[in-house]
Amino acid sequence: MQNLIIKGGKRLSGAVSIHGAKNSVLPLICSTVLLTGKSVLHNCPELTDVYAALNILESLGLGWSMNGADIEIISKYPESAEIPESLMLKMRSSVMFLGAILSRTGHAVISAPGGCRLGPRPIDIHLSALKKMGANVRENGGKLIFDASGGLDGAEIVLDFPSVGATENIIMAGALANGTTTVYNAAREPEIKDLTDFLIKCGADISGGGTDTVVIRGVRRLTGAEHTVIPDRIEAATYMAAAAITGGSVTVKNVIPGHFTAVSEIFREAGCEVSFLDGDVIITAPERLNAVKSVKTRVYPGFPTDAGPVLLSALSVACGTSVISESIFENRFGFTDELSRFGARIKVFGRVAVIDGVSELSAAPCNCTDLRGGAALIIAALKANGESRIGNLCHVMRGYQDLANNLRTLGADIIEL
Ligand code: UD1
Repeated sequence: MQNLIIKGGKRLSGAVSIHGAKNSVLPLICSTVLLTGKSVLHNCPELTDVYAALNILESLGLGWSMNGADIEIISKYPESAEIPESLMLKMRSSVMFLGAILSRTGHAVISAPGGCRLGPRPIDIHLSALKKMGANVRENGGKLIFDASGGLDGAEIVLDFPSVGATENIIMAGALANGTTTVYNAAREPEIKDLTDFLIKCGADISGGGTDTVVIRGVRRLTGAEHTVIPDRIEAATYMAAAAITGGSVTVKNVIPGHFTAVSEIFREAGCEVSFLDGDVIITAPERLNAVKSVKTRVYPGFPTDAGPVLLSALSVACGTSVISESIFENRFGFTDELSRFGARIKVFGRVAVIDGVSELSAAPCNCTDLRGGAALIIAALKANGESRIGNLCHVMRGYQDLANNLRTLGADIIEL
C-alpha cells in the first residue's frame, strides 16, 4: 500500500476494536533476549516495527513465528551480541535491545538508532544508567561497544527525565544483574507495567513497575512465559479523533479505561461526550468541536505526546483558537506544513502550536512525515471536502494495523492504492 485516497465529509459511526500496543510489544520482544525457552505473546499488532524487532531477534539467533496475533519466541543464549546497523536504523526502539543483550551476554554492539525525526533523540540517559551498572562503553567506527564481562551490577539510578525507553532498558538490564537496581524518577507509562508484569511471569523479581520508583532484584535465570499485550491507547485516541473531527459517534472496543483519563478530559472539553462501558470507550462528537484553550502534552498520566498530532487535526476545525504545547519532543509539529495544505490555519512557535479553527477543510495531496503526524493527516482528510491523496504511508504502517479497513468499517470513503 503506497497511498490512501480519502473522500472526506462522511460522519463516522459504529465500532472498532483496538490492537495490542505497539509500545508494549516492542520492549516485550526485546526482553525475550533475557529468557530461556518458549514465550507466547498474545494480542500482538502486525506492524512493520514489530517485524523490525523480530528481525533483530533473528539476527541474535533467537527463533520466532507469528500466527495471527500470537507471536511465539524461542529464547536461548544469543549467538551474537551485535545488532546490525541496517536493523538499528529501522526504528528507535532497536536501542531497547541494549539492556537485555548486555545483561544476558556481558557484551553489546549497536549503532545509532533510527525512528521518527521528531528532533534530537539522544540516548544519553540509557548510557549513563548502564555505565552506572558497571558497563564500559567505547565508540569505534560509528559503533557503540559495551562491555560488562563480569555481569552488570545493581545500582541506584536517578533519571534526569522519566524516559520511557531508558526506564525499560534499565529494567531489562537489571533483571539478570548482580544485586538490586532501583530506578528513581522512572517513567510511569502503562507499557512499562506491561513489561514488568511479563518479566515477573518469567521469574524476575521486580516491584513498582508503572510507578516512579522501580526496584529490580537481579535473578540468575529467566524462563519463557505467556502474556497478553495491553491494548494500544494511542491507536484508540486516533479513532476518538476520527470520530471527533467528523462529528461522529464511535465505540472503541477493548481499551483499559484508566489509560484515558487525560485524553477523555480534552475531548470532553472540545464538546464530545465520552463514556466507558465494559472495556469500551464511546465517543459522540458535536457537529462542530469547541476550541481547547490550552493542552500540554506530558509524561503519563498526562496527555500523551503521541496523541497530540491527531488532536491537533481535530481542533483544526473547532470553533475558536486552540493551543497545544508539546513538552516531550522538539519537532512534534513538523507535520503541520502538510496539514496546512487542507486549509488548516496553524502557527507553530517552537514547541507551541496555535490552531485557528476553520469551518471547513478542503482535500489536498499530502505526504506523511512521521508516524503520528501521518495519522493526523489521515484524520484531516476524513473531514476535508473532496478527494485527498495521502502518500508515504510507510510511516503510518509502523504503528497502525488495518487503519484504512477500520475507518472504512466506520463509514469512511477510503481506498488503498
Ligand atoms: C517512547 C514511545 C514513543 C513516545 C515516547 C514518549 C516506545 C517504543 N516509544 O519513546 O512512542 O512518543 O516514549 O512518550 O515506547 N531523551 C533524552 N535522552 C535519552 C532518552 C530520551 O534526551 O537518553 C529525550 C528524548 O529525546 C525525548 C524525551 O526524552 O525528547 C522522551 O523520550 P523517551 O521517553 O525516551 O521516548 P522513547 O522511549 O524514545
